[in-house]
Amino acid sequence: MTGYRASLLRFADDATPQFDADGLLVVDDTPGRTPVVLAAGDHAALAPRYPGLAVQDLRGHLIAPGFVDLHVHYPQTDVIGAPAAGLLPWLENYTFPHESRFHDAGYARGVADFFFDELLRHGVTTALTFATSHVASVNAAFEAAQSRGLRFITGKVLQDRHSPDGVRDDTEQSLLDTEALIQRWHGVDRLGYAITPRFAPTSTPAQLRGAGELAANYADVWIQSHVAENLDEIRWAGELFPQSRSYLATYGDFGLLRERAVYAHCIHMDAADRAQMASTGAVAAVSPTSNLFLGSGFFDYAAADAAGMRYGLASDVGGGTSFSPFHTMLAAYYVGRENHTKTGLSLSPGHLWWQHTAGAAQALGLQGVVGNLQPGCEADFVVLNPKATPLLARKTAQADSLDELLFALIVLGDDRVVVRTVVAGR
Ligand code: GUN
Ligand code: ZN
Repeated sequence: MTGYRASLLRFADDATPQFDADGLLVVDDTPGRTPVVLAAGDHAALAPRYPGLAVQDLRGHLIAPGFVDLHVHYPQTDVIGAPAAGLLPWLENYTFPHESRFHDAGYARGVADFFFDELLRHGVTTALTFATSHVASVNAAFEAAQSRGLRFITGKVLQDRHSPDGVRDDTEQSLLDTEALIQRWHGVDRLGYAITPRFAPTSTPAQLRGAGELAANYADVWIQSHVAENLDEIRWAGELFPQSRSYLATYGDFGLLRERAVYAHCIHMDAADRAQMASTGAVAAVSPTSNLFLGSGFFDYAAADAAGMRYGLASDVGGGTSFSPFHTMLAAYYVGRENHTKTGLSLSPGHLWWQHTAGAAQALGLQGVVGNLQPGCEADFVVLNPKATPLLARKTAQADSLDELLFALIVLGDDRVVVRTVVAGR
């Protein structure tokens, strides 16, 4: 067992942040299995229960759950900051040409290694990630994640039409490849597979039908895609699938809305769409830096809450502009202001933080596994320095409440705050 003494942040089941100013985190790191949290709480109350415990003294720091990125594209690491009029020209002019390079396993592994090092530097310990349409890109990502001991989910992108040579795949082969990858990787160590139709416009009905059949046969495999991000995209999806009630409903019509189905963006939805998200258990990956950068729109938190729709935060690199959860939480705050202006409410710092940790884990069906530091959770956490910059030191020294401390970190924080990222106790 190992103890860590520092301030401690974790979340109750109802998303309420719990804070111990002088906390103790006790990790059971018995060799041979993934280390888990044995106890977390006030140091004075807990320490007597663990006489002789080896304790790392990290006082002055804040230990918090490792961040969970609900939607990111590792092959778009080098696409960050590509300017375009909107989503569709961005895909055509930058993203598809770049992704065509990932047929090369060596190239893919180089980017994957950089990507994971970057995630860890930013305190992100679990990600649901797009690969590309190339099998090699999936193997590269899983191998790189496995070597770092990460809990990580990815999948081969399915896109058998309206995609250029070099990224377009073959309908039948794409489904065979998907099933072979599920069998090779899903449930190995801490790895999981996600069936990954890019978005409805780049898949034939046959490919979506096949994806839905795989989703039914492998119920604990994830599904990830994009929906209702951009008005031109929505118009296009409507032309291609006129028989579906809406863009979102298209996915439902092919069996792709269920628990463990994660849809990026979910911006331009109506009440029936939100009700369908809630009733099927599908979840939204809110990607505010991407939505602001590509001019896609604003996720409607108030409407999502009213519908009982679940969601969590995502970087969506490379439409998104940063790997930093602090930048993403701040952008989500701006977006929340947009629609909460109507109600006079705005997102609290604790709720923003929850959306990027325990909330995102819950959206993945991994509550009690990652994204929190309650007993039983896997020991993935970050050690944060609230005095990482002169301005942060000044601001956090004046914080009179947990909200003020968390807000200072969200508004002023970035990778400089993350002094250590611990994955599975290491
Ligand atoms: N829709 C389809 N593909 C993509 C992608 O790569 N990024 C974003 N933001 N939206 C998409
Ligand atoms: Zn995306």
